[in-house]
Amino acid sequence: MSESSTPVTAEHFRYIAAHTQPEDPFLAELKREASAAGIPAIWISPEQASLMQILLKLCKAREVIEVGTLAGYSAIAMARALPDGGRVRTVELSDKHADFAERWIARSDVADRIEVHRGSGADVLPTFADASADAAFLDADKENYALYLDQTRRTIRPGGLIMVDNAFAFGQLFDEHPTDPETPAVRCFNEYISQATWVQSIIVPLGDGCWVGVKS
Ligand SMILES: C[S@@+](CC[C@H](N)C(=O)[O-])C[C@H]1O[C@@H](n2cnc3c(N)ncnc32)[C@H](O)[C@@H]1O
Repeated sequence: MSESSTPVTAEHFRYIAAHTQPEDPFLAELKREASAAGIPAIWISPEQASLMQILLKLCKAREVIEVGTLAGYSAIAMARALPDGGRVRTVELSDKHADFAERWIARSDVADRIEVHRGSGADVLPTFADASADAAFLDADKENYALYLDQTRRTIRPGGLIMVDNAFAFGQLFDEHPTDPETPAVRCFNEYISQATWVQSIIVPLGDGCWVGVKS
């Protein structure tokens, strides 16, 4: 830690949340209904959604690729940061999650900007054209993150934005005996992206840690 850094505590996180624009009623209801439908509450936080929207606006993104739709929360949040004619292509393996997301996307204010692609990221991403996106958000199975990053390198344009969730491995990054089976994969991925020379990246300590990068 550099001398001028302030260690971020739970109190800082609460402060950040309290100073972020509140979530709108539609997304709050989506989360309630998703939980009632038995979908795990593993969507991004409103603070992370706000950060991602700011970054998407700054890079003037029109086309976004996401891996890991879940209930559609982050796809809807990202789509709201795009201009008219923008598009989020979001990839989801679980039919149950994709069914729920499609219903709620259809009811949202950005229904015309989101496509749900069913299947695994490993199968679907290779079908997307080279340099066809301005930004990508990776938020699915951690053991395939390196593969997804390689696909992202191909599918986003130079200067494109890369965001990858869960750099802190569900809070277990430094645990000697992590209980989450995906923790080793997160650690490997953190090494992989930090050594990649084609992307300048950094972990933003929001939510569970979000990698943010720019492709050279
Ligand atoms: C953390 S959730 C995504 C949360 C969502 N991005 C949000 O914040 O609203 C991870 C999702 O990835 C999906 N998933 C898991 N393995 C996958 C794979 N191989 N390909 C695509 N999606 C996958 C899961 O079914 C789950 O819905």
